[in-house]
Amino acid sequence: MLMVSEGNPSMVEGDRIQEVLREYLPNHRDIPEKLVEAMSYSLFAGGKRLRPSLVFAGAQAVGVDPDKVRPLAAAVEFVHTYSLIHDDLPALDNDDFRRGKPTCHRVFGEDIAIMAGDALLTEAFSIISRDQECTDLSAHRNLLDAMGQALGARGMVGGQVRDLMASQEFSQEDLEAVHSGKTGALIAFCMSAAAIAFAKPQAVITAIKEFGLEVGLAFQIIDDVIDETGTLEEIGKNPGSDRSGNKLTYTVLMSTTEATELAERTFVSASHQLASVALDPEPLMAVAHLMVHRRA
Ligand code: IPE
Ligand code: IPE
Ligand code: MG
Ligand code: MG
Ligand code: MG
Repeated sequence: MLMVSEGNPSMVEGDRIQEVLREYLPNHRDIPEKLVEAMSYSLFAGGKRLRPSLVFAGAQAVGVDPDKVRPLAAAVEFVHTYSLIHDDLPALDNDDFRRGKPTCHRVFGEDIAIMAGDALLTEAFSIISRDQECTDLSAHRNLLDAMGQALGARGMVGGQVRDLMASQEFSQEDLEAVHSGKTGALIAFCMSAAAIAFAKPQAVITAIKEFGLEVGLAFQIIDDVIDETGTLEEIGKNPGSDRSGNKLTYTVLMSTTEATELAERTFVSASHQLASVALDPEPLMAVAHLMVHRRA
């Protein structure tokens, strides 16, 4: 069982997740060594492992054996790591540090970094396609469809493009759409993946997704805050990156204190989503609480 402790989300006990990631990392001898090296470099650089933790928590919430969602846990961290490698590229945020280490493109070059991201994303779909644990074919198809929607033009990629196009004239509502897309969609998928794969009632899946979108928004608001207030040692990435990149974030629209309060209110409002459906809210609430009350 995954244990979470009080404090920063880096305290999520991740040994089991490391093991799962190692198990699913392709190591076939036909794969170029440089590619595996770049994929492993970013995957094992550190990171809070929140998304796999959310997959396990989502399974516990709906009474699914966590061992049955190991492939899902690996896949979401692969996808998340791809998104970070691409997000750091010079064409996007142009960042030099990630997870306390030089970014993938700084070590391996932009060409290999792009390919490492592509390979992690593709492997993630391959892991889920091979997953034998889903209740039936229809649940398996729904899972792949939900992952595609969360990651593609209507989800993360769409949100990243909105982020690139954002201007200082954006309203708070516009910024909410950026954050929900680039960050909320994957978080909502992680939380609801077990419910989808194990064919739980639609009302349960919908409630978890709504909860995940709101928690994802609160999580990204805090990410904006810690970009202003954190240190390289604490957050493992260069603070002030948003400001120097002229990015539109919540701390442009309001003070860091107001943004922190908004994240808290968003989290409290999110928690109501889980109240009226048949699941155990505690495991999801525990990880979500860490996500919103963090300094790293
Ligand atoms: C960073 O995510 C990117 C965002 C969506 C804010 P995390 O803060 O979860 O990064 P890691 O996995 O701990 O490195
Ligand atoms: C990143 O948002 C979202 C994705 C990677 C999809 P940010 O650009 O704010 O994340 P950090 O601050 O670089 O981790
Ligand atoms: Mg970005
Ligand atoms: Mg970034
Ligand atoms: Mg950020």
